[in-house]
Amino acid sequence: MMENEVIIVGSGIAALTTAYYLHEHKNVTIFTKRRKEESNSWLAQGGVAAAISIEDHWQCHFHDTIAAGCYHNDEKMVELLVREGPKRISEWMEEGLRFDTKKDGSLHFGREGGHGKRRILHAGGDQTGRTIVAFLLEKLAGRVRMVEDEYVMELLVEHGRCVGIKTKNRSGQIAFHYANTVVLAAGGCAGIYAFSSNSQAATGDGIALAYRAGAKIADMEFIQFHPTMLLANGKAVGLISEAVRGEGAVLVTEDGRKVMESVHPLRDLAPRDIVARAIHAEIQHGHRVYLDVSMIARFREQFPTIAKLCQAYEVDIDKGKIPIVPGAHFLMGGVHVNDHGQTSIQGLYAVGEVACTGVHGANRLASNSLLEGIVFGARAAEAIRRETASPVQLRKKTNDIHSNKKVVNDLPEISTIQTIMSTYVGIVRDEQGLQYAKKWFEQFPLSYFANSSLDHFSINEIAIMHMLLTGWLITTSALQRTESRGGHYRSDYPFERKQWKQRRIWRTKSELNV
Ligand code: SIN
Repeated sequence: MMENEVIIVGSGIAALTTAYYLHEHKNVTIFTKRRKEESNSWLAQGGVAAAISIEDHWQCHFHDTIAAGCYHNDEKMVELLVREGPKRISEWMEEGLRFDTKKDGSLHFGREGGHGKRRILHAGGDQTGRTIVAFLLEKLAGRVRMVEDEYVMELLVEHGRCVGIKTKNRSGQIAFHYANTVVLAAGGCAGIYAFSSNSQAATGDGIALAYRAGAKIADMEFIQFHPTMLLANGKAVGLISEAVRGEGAVLVTEDGRKVMESVHPLRDLAPRDIVARAIHAEIQHGHRVYLDVSMIARFREQFPTIAKLCQAYEVDIDKGKIPIVPGAHFLMGGVHVNDHGQTSIQGLYAVGEVACTGVHGANRLASNSLLEGIVFGARAAEAIRRETASPVQLRKKTNDIHSNKKVVNDLPEISTIQTIMSTYVGIVRDEQGLQYAKKWFEQFPLSYFANSSLDHFSINEIAIMHMLLTGWLITTSALQRTESRGGHYRSDYPFERKQWKQRRIWRTKSELNV
């Protein structure tokens, strides 16, 4: 058997689910650029949505998902998500995964924005992601090879087939790792915004790696902003789960006015894009916005992580008001895949947030992301198990560390990219701002970043190049879509337009060759 039959890039729920359903059949190695626990999945608070309750039905979950997604969703994929999710979760519960229950021992279902029913499973109060990731890591311990602190700097593609990855470690050593199959599970890109709920590691590496390799990318303009991040010292410092609003919390201004009262019939539990924009508008008008949690009697017990976060920033929850601000949270688009996670490049799969399965449409329904990682991680594993690709030839490559030296303009600071994205490509966009951001990105040699060997750059420099490519893809896709839909809102085109219904904006690297 070769060293790696399957390489998985990333260590969140989609990566670990793929490994979980593969490890008995294939030799799996997971590469992660930091520690294995440093993923968005680990941070996920609210939970995992699944129509498991006898009062629920997959069709209700289906309808809530496509309504939140502004009908931009791929309905076939949504059906797979909501029908297969409950089966996978029940399977894991039989194997020991525990969700929070009521006093009578039955599952406690939480409620979040856009859901017509209580259907959010949660664990440890607000520690759902961490509980599921820990469950999977325990199952996989000693069964897959885990390489931490190794940065994937390139996907190796030969004759149209992905044959492995090129990595760099903290000492700058480059290594080539070959495999029959590579699974990209590198997460999203909300870290390229100034205010974000994401792990600092989520800066668009996966999108940029796939784009550089020539994969088809779609829907990059759709970025979800989570309405409620804790605001402290003028910064967004962590997530306040939507589950808090599910338990009755209400968004208010400094003088106690209810923000969502006349905005949407579901008020504080309206879809996220609507709530985030309403808060953004209040802030633009000089107001401060708070989450009134005074009605939640057992807050510390129900939301231990959030209570600790508030304490760390000296926000006294007993006073009942948590200062909040919206922050970038989730990318609906990404590397385009079919119903088994296969990308447009043979041998390359993508799962989780980095992938665009089409399930989220223009705006993801709350708590559907862990579910997507589980369902499509399992589906990718199913397809990979069936693959009979002839083993790739292991070969020694010399690395051309001194070749390809080319002068690049000074790279910007990460904080400058984040400011550009938040100011011009944020919650509210328009032609003028997007054109400004496009021009700003295009002062850098994007074509060079996409087409050259980046061996002689440091990990930090390559990560910045990846942020620039990802930010440019979001900006230029947002410019093309002359309408507003879900996570893409343009003040100069404030409504949905028929001509854009179900239309995707496709991106491939060939556009940089002209
Ligand atoms: C939250 O707990 O509000 C985040 C969950 C999600 O993004 O689905």
